[in-house]
Amino acid sequence: MATNQDLLERRKRVSPSWLIALHDQPIAIDRGEGRHVWDVEGNRYLDFFGGILTTSIGHAVPEITTAIQQQAAKIIHTSTLYVSEPMVELAEMVAELSGIPDARVFFTTSGTEATDAALLLATCYRRSNQVLAMRNSYHGRSFTAVAVTGHRSWSPTSFSGINVSYVQGSYPLRSPFRGLDEAAYISASVEDLEQVIDMMTSGDVACLLAEPIQGVGGFATPPDGLFGSLKKVLDNYGILYISDEVQTGWGRTGEHFWGYQAHGITPDIMTFAKGVGNGASLGGVVARAEIMDSIGANSISTFGGNPISAAAGVATLRYILEHDLQGNAAVMGERLVSGIRASVESAPWIAELRGKGLMQGIETVRAGSLEPAPELAGELLERCKADGLLIGKGGLYGNVLRISPPLTVTADEIDEAVSIITRAITAMN
Ligand SMILES: Cc1ncc(COP(=O)(O)O)c(C=O)c1O
Repeated sequence: MATNQDLLERRKRVSPSWLIALHDQPIAIDRGEGRHVWDVEGNRYLDFFGGILTTSIGHAVPEITTAIQQQAAKIIHTSTLYVSEPMVELAEMVAELSGIPDARVFFTTSGTEATDAALLLATCYRRSNQVLAMRNSYHGRSFTAVAVTGHRSWSPTSFSGINVSYVQGSYPLRSPFRGLDEAAYISASVEDLEQVIDMMTSGDVACLLAEPIQGVGGFATPPDGLFGSLKKVLDNYGILYISDEVQTGWGRTGEHFWGYQAHGITPDIMTFAKGVGNGASLGGVVARAEIMDSIGANSISTFGGNPISAAAGVATLRYILEHDLQGNAAVMGERLVSGIRASVESAPWIAELRGKGLMQGIETVRAGSLEPAPELAGELLERCKADGLLIGKGGLYGNVLRISPPLTVTADEIDEAVSIITRAITAMN
């Protein structure tokens, strides 16, 4: 039987040095069930990161497994040169759910490819290569996507065909406008956007791309309404607003189905991926028909919306809607936050507990300052793992814990995680 260490050594020999593993002693996950996973050595963990918010309804869910098996037994691949029933059905569901009027859906295999597609649409529609992105953003790993990534750890190159200017607002804790009340913070961010457009662009900008809550950026959560206020400025210039719902979509924030809904607006374009297929390789972009159809050439993704992924997507969305997992995310998110709040407040080395629903971040700092303390985040992560709980890590300085279980998480599982996190924080105080 392979051990965690054997597999790590083998991976290192054949993989890039920059393919990072989360833990000091990385584990190889062998199988899962519900909200639990087992590594190849048989150790069991409560999974509160869900493959980076992707296993949205849990592991080995019979409805999803059956949908994939039945589709695999019929046909695995046809390409978009032929019409595919699972893809049509999924597109109808996503178009309806998106809230975007006259919506058209294009499927991809990942969030990165969805970002590329959205930027292609916006730049073609507006005939401009100027793009606005938020500071501390992450939108994927391709050459185009890294160009709109305002996060040093994930920006390997500055070469790009698009001209990007970065806007303030997504990360209140490390914004120069920190400390202002919400209304003043939003006004200052609006003023910054106006200045960026006036001072750093020629005005005819294609789009602003933004995550409602920044995922890789450490669940940085702006005040509700921020993007609504920014969009008013964009509208004056005809600049499109793209909402990256790769992490915030499908009810994860609890209060809404999409992250953008906290801002009282409807985006012109939306991207999605991760949780839509509960782990199947699936992403996409939604836009109004006039924007989607503005591309004056053929465009194709051979695997985008393939029958297996689309069948998984249809089954996942049905499950989310039929079981009101958005409602569960709201209730369980509140239970998690109220469970860990006291211990978080007792720790002078925790700057902030933030997020919405089942997307909660804990930012670690040196006590009494805002100086990032990534080693404390690392220690907390390892203590949780040693106690049988997997959580994630991220943030600009690697100093933010990310807690984001599948949307099906139960009260007992939340309580178990709360005990483990509380024990770890108390031991570190
Ligand atoms: C907000 C956001 N957009 C896009 C992406 C890229 O998705 P993928 O890794 O599927 O290419 C990610 C991945 O973490 C993400 O968090």
